[in-house]
Amino acid sequence: MGYDRADAWTRKAKAAGFPARSVFKLEEIDQLHHVVKPGGSAIDLGCFPGSWSKWLIGRGARVVGVDLQAPALPGGTWLVGSVLEIEAEALRDAAGGPVDLVVSDLAPNTSGQKYVDHVRQIALAERALSLAIELGKPGSHFVCKVFDGEDANAFVERVKAAYTQVKRQKPDATRGSSVEFFVIGKGLKAK
Ligand SMILES: C[S@@+](CC[C@H](N)C(=O)[O-])C[C@H]1O[C@@H](n2cnc3c(N)ncnc32)[C@H](O)[C@@H]1O
Repeated sequence: MGYDRADAWTRKAKAAGFPARSVFKLEEIDQLHHVVKPGGSAIDLGCFPGSWSKWLIGRGARVVGVDLQAPALPGGTWLVGSVLEIEAEALRDAAGGPVDLVVSDLAPNTSGQKYVDHVRQIALAERALSLAIELGKPGSHFVCKVFDGEDANAFVERVKAAYTQVKRQKPDATRGSSVEFFVIGKGLKAK
């Protein structure tokens, strides 16, 4: 996808009242994989500026989000801090117990060095997976952004060990030049 079309996604998001184009990635993932349970509970890791959370709330989900800054968005519970430091217990308390869905769009500030960015992003994805395993109900789902690179397949294998069904997806709204893809884990295995 060229930049003109990429900018068209951003304009479309703003016109629909969403702060970021990323909303269309989650929407497309849900259309294909049916991860959102209306009325269910969700944890959104890396939730700022709030497009995924807003979309989840609009689908009837109860949302707890974590980021280095809180989105200016009503209807959810926002915890400010690093996912690398926050205790799983604090998230569980905020969500009122184990959840139906954990989503992670976590991404580091990019350095421009592909390998460095990959390693930093995979560390965030690994943390997202640990939190999803710890905080998900048995049978819950997981959606996680991954920057592709040499550790990506090993990460996908760890998701496969924890979930019954695992798929990879590169949504249309992802820029053509982007190294990102998403891992969708369905059906968290009982611990
Ligand atoms: C692509 S943005 C998320 C966009 C969001 N899904 C949306 O739809 O609005 C990635 C987010 O990851 C957050 N992030 C990066 N490292 C983090 C960390 N260690 N702890 C918490 N959030 C982090 C960034 O602050 C940024 O807001």
